[in-house]
Amino acid sequence: MSFDREKLISLAKSVRNNAHAPYSGFLVGVALQDDSGDFYIGCNVENSSFPEGNCAEASAIGAMVAAGGRKIVALVAVGGRTELESCAPCGGCRQRILEFADQHTRVLYVNDAGEFEDVSIGDLLPASFRLTDV
Ligand code: THU
Repeated sequence: MSFDREKLISLAKSVRNNAHAPYSGFLVGVALQDDSGDFYIGCNVENSSFPEGNCAEASAIGAMVAAGGRKIVALVAVGGRTELESCAPCGGCRQRILEFADQHTRVLYVNDAGEFEDVSIGDLLPASFRLTDV
């Protein structure tokens, strides 16, 4: 399914400005498009009790699910302290994305060279865990 790459990048960069990351100083913005064509955004929200913070991917996925969306067509993640830095989704967020992905889902993030990688969830999380009896 097609997706609006430039709009997703723009939304992710924009919502990154709202990140609450006073402890790490690493601001993350995520935008995703679901299979209805709708866009959802999220940023990281840290907490003084460090484990209670949540990642930008979790925020964006939560917004999609709350609105009734269930399938991610594409997700863009951008992050960094001041300028954008490499920001591949963390391990936990790969599993979160997988929950609402299929083999066509694209995940875009800035790599070490400062360019956007465009990969599948299978590339990010091979041999992934799934419950097979539900
Ligand atoms: N972070 C995300 O929001 N998404 C990721 O996939 C990687 C890490 C956030 C968590 C924390 O607030 C900050 O980046 C530094 O780890």
